[in-house]
Amino acid sequence: MVEHISPARSLSGTVVLPGDKSISHRYGMLTPLAEGTSKIRNYSTGADCQSTLACMRAMGIAIESGDETVVHGKGLDGLSAPAGMLDAGNSGSTIRMLSGILAAQPFVTRIGGDESLSKRPMQRIMTPLAEMGAKIEARDGKFPPLTITGGPLKAIEYKLPVASAQVKSCVLLAGLFAEGETRVVEEVRTRDHTEVALREFGVEIEQQRSKWWIGSFETYRNVIRVQGRARLKPLELYVPGDLSSAAFFLVAAQIVAESDLVIQGVGLNPTRTALLDFLVGMGCSIQILDVQETNSELIGNLRVRKSRVRGGRLEGAMTAAVIDEIPVLAVLGAASEDGLSVNDASELRVKETDRIATIEENFKRMGLKIETRPDGFNVPGRQQFHAAELDSFGDHRIAMAFSIAALAADGACEIRDAAAASVSFPSFFDTLQRIAQ
Ligand code: S3P
Repeated sequence: MVEHISPARSLSGTVVLPGDKSISHRYGMLTPLAEGTSKIRNYSTGADCQSTLACMRAMGIAIESGDETVVHGKGLDGLSAPAGMLDAGNSGSTIRMLSGILAAQPFVTRIGGDESLSKRPMQRIMTPLAEMGAKIEARDGKFPPLTITGGPLKAIEYKLPVASAQVKSCVLLAGLFAEGETRVVEEVRTRDHTEVALREFGVEIEQQRSKWWIGSFETYRNVIRVQGRARLKPLELYVPGDLSSAAFFLVAAQIVAESDLVIQGVGLNPTRTALLDFLVGMGCSIQILDVQETNSELIGNLRVRKSRVRGGRLEGAMTAAVIDEIPVLAVLGAASEDGLSVNDASELRVKETDRIATIEENFKRMGLKIETRPDGFNVPGRQQFHAAELDSFGDHRIAMAFSIAALAADGACEIRDAAAASVSFPSFFDTLQRIAQ
């Protein structure tokens, strides 16, 4: 599918987002393990989160999808062996987090996905799961499909070698099935939706966060403890809108003159809102309104208006905290006054595409300057965006980031394979059309 995007003069109105992708995955994996029927409202319509539900259905869980998603949980030991290979589609979250659950099952599972997923590194979850007692085989020792021979797991203490909420969640989910206490130690703060959700489901889980200043160095350490053989209670759940999807409109409002948007019902978990801090630091005008709590997650409305945007620099923990938003931040950098420098971002190379390479390619097509490095890039500011034939390269965030760039181009742009956006945001192009004049 090719989308044609014309330049916009202004953006106005209200944006409603799909349910948060990260939270939906967690609810999609935990409700089947609860002892009874749960109801989830605003579960993500994106293909990734539907892959999680499809895997659960294949393991004997009855799930009705309609206005709300109704999941008939069967308890910790209720999954049954799937008839064939589980299909995680394009979803790294599905394969990495679900593997924690599969590792504890009394059966062998094969799980794989599409071409992009088949190139994504899996050692990061294979190492701790093997330490807990599971046997996992992978293509070339590191890529999907995985063959997981589950069984009884032992509790471990695991220090995360990469800043990854998926790996942390994988170990915590496996820890649910182990005898005793599983501990995960993280030294870079990552999203804590799994910890928040587990507590909601009634699992005993504790977080001990410490921060120290050593001279001008800030250090962080979080020890998460989960008690195994837990019993999960069924819940009524509501998934807040996805802040990572909001990012496209927060940036769009900065690069299109006369923009004023309200983005409704956005998840504002403090482990995700570094994006807002960074944007405000660059000079963006963002207001948070009507904050409430739902299932221990914060949710509120965002009002964003066109502002004068200076430049920015991402490094260290800040890079990790906004890793999914970097494609659209690169676009903002090029339109800003002083540009953007992204550092410590080698993880971008192993996302749905090598995002440093796919950002660079689309920048070149639009006549934009960018200087890339193995772990980041520099984008000068005050650049003119030229009309071009752009490509998603099958990556949802690249499709959406460059559709936003197209709004500021000097003519209509084409986005090839724009359908990739439906991995996280099926109504993205309809929404864009509705708010753009
Ligand atoms: C996610 C964690 C991040 C993020 C991904 C979703 C999650 O990945 O990039 O889109 O839901 O836990 P890593 O865990 O690899 O950092």
